[in-house]
Amino acid sequence: MNKTITGFSKLSKSEKIDWLVDTYFKDSESAKSVLKQYWNEDKKLQLLHDEFIENTITNYYLPLGVAPNFLINDTVYAIPMAIEESSVVAAASKAAKFWFDRGGFKTNVISTEKIGQVHFTYDGDTEDLGVYFNAVIKNKIFDEAKHLTKNMEKRGGGILDIELIDKTDLLENYYQLHATFETLDAMGANFINSCLEQFAKTLKQEADKSLESNLNIVMSILSNYVPNCLVRAEVSCKVEELTENDNISAQEFAEKFVQAVNIAEIEPYRAVTHNKGIMNGIDAVVLATGNDFRAVEASVHAYASRNGQYSSLTHAKIEGDIFTFWMEIPLALGTVGGLTKLHPLVKLALELLGEPSAKELMQIVAVAGLAQNFAALRSLTTTGIQEGHMKMHLMNILNQFEATPEEKTILVKHFTTNTVTHSAVVESINNLRK
Ligand code: MEV
Repeated sequence: MNKTITGFSKLSKSEKIDWLVDTYFKDSESAKSVLKQYWNEDKKLQLLHDEFIENTITNYYLPLGVAPNFLINDTVYAIPMAIEESSVVAAASKAAKFWFDRGGFKTNVISTEKIGQVHFTYDGDTEDLGVYFNAVIKNKIFDEAKHLTKNMEKRGGGILDIELIDKTDLLENYYQLHATFETLDAMGANFINSCLEQFAKTLKQEADKSLESNLNIVMSILSNYVPNCLVRAEVSCKVEELTENDNISAQEFAEKFVQAVNIAEIEPYRAVTHNKGIMNGIDAVVLATGNDFRAVEASVHAYASRNGQYSSLTHAKIEGDIFTFWMEIPLALGTVGGLTKLHPLVKLALELLGEPSAKELMQIVAVAGLAQNFAALRSLTTTGIQEGHMKMHLMNILNQFEATPEEKTILVKHFTTNTVTHSAVVESINNLRK
């Protein structure tokens, strides 16, 4: 059977679905009904979602949870998190409560610079290009981008600098315009990319007019790596305040916790999982607030490798009787533009956070990451991760077996004092149903 099609995007939504279910599914009616089950009855809302992307056939739900009691620089937040992993919101809430009683999270934005590059080749003399760039092209580029930058400049942002970079030692004839931007509350991708394409146009025009050798533009695009768009989040308390678990003393816990962080600092296999746990918190808030989690992921992991080896994003120390746990990460986020005014749940999430500026959102997101890592390391170094994970996963197993509300009540109660494993839950369901 032919499984390819031309002109798919031109079909209506129903025609797309008909073709898909007939071509790819054994039971086309049941596939169709699953897809339709997720359509929104509110036609306007559905159309909004249909038009976010091409070829929309249905909506893909993720739970939106809330982790309350986050004290950040003396303000209390309830943080929205969109995520499918069962234990993440519970862990965040637990860490929030823990640190609420110990002074909360302290954060600050270190820098907010974004980056974009025009990549081009030039087969002439490097010095000639440099002289001409600084004497003529640079000012011309700023001037000719004015129509794009004037609104951003009015608000205090814009282009910070444009440098000519010679990369010919790494790749024959390869140069860049390396530009830095301040985009305020916007993530800035469209602004930066529009500016870069204008820079490229000016550069090419000027070069063709006045340089003897060939200059060719390869591409113009922002960099998602933003090591100078940095935020720091920290928690700190007296070691003796770290008690909570009777099986381990506060001092022993603090030392084990620092050891766990030290391991992630020097061991890439552990660092990846350690940082994945941090991203559980970060991605969930980034997604809930309509930001680009792929951009954040790419940037954060590049940052984690900045010293030549992939390493932990968080750090911890005990100095005297003080325990400190902190993280600095690059985050390019926006609270205007993109989906922020468009997606009703993104709007709601931002209102829940008190309509934060991009800088405030950077701090909230960093805290969600730090809290998640604290919760993970706290479990890993004491009870082990599975106790909490399986407790949260219990509901998934019960749903898999289509447990009734009555069965759920009985079994949730049973597993408050019994260890949750897949086989133990299955056995209990079967016993209950006998
Ligand atoms: C699971 O999603 C995340 C953890 O593996 C993180 C970690 O090991 O630090 C628990």
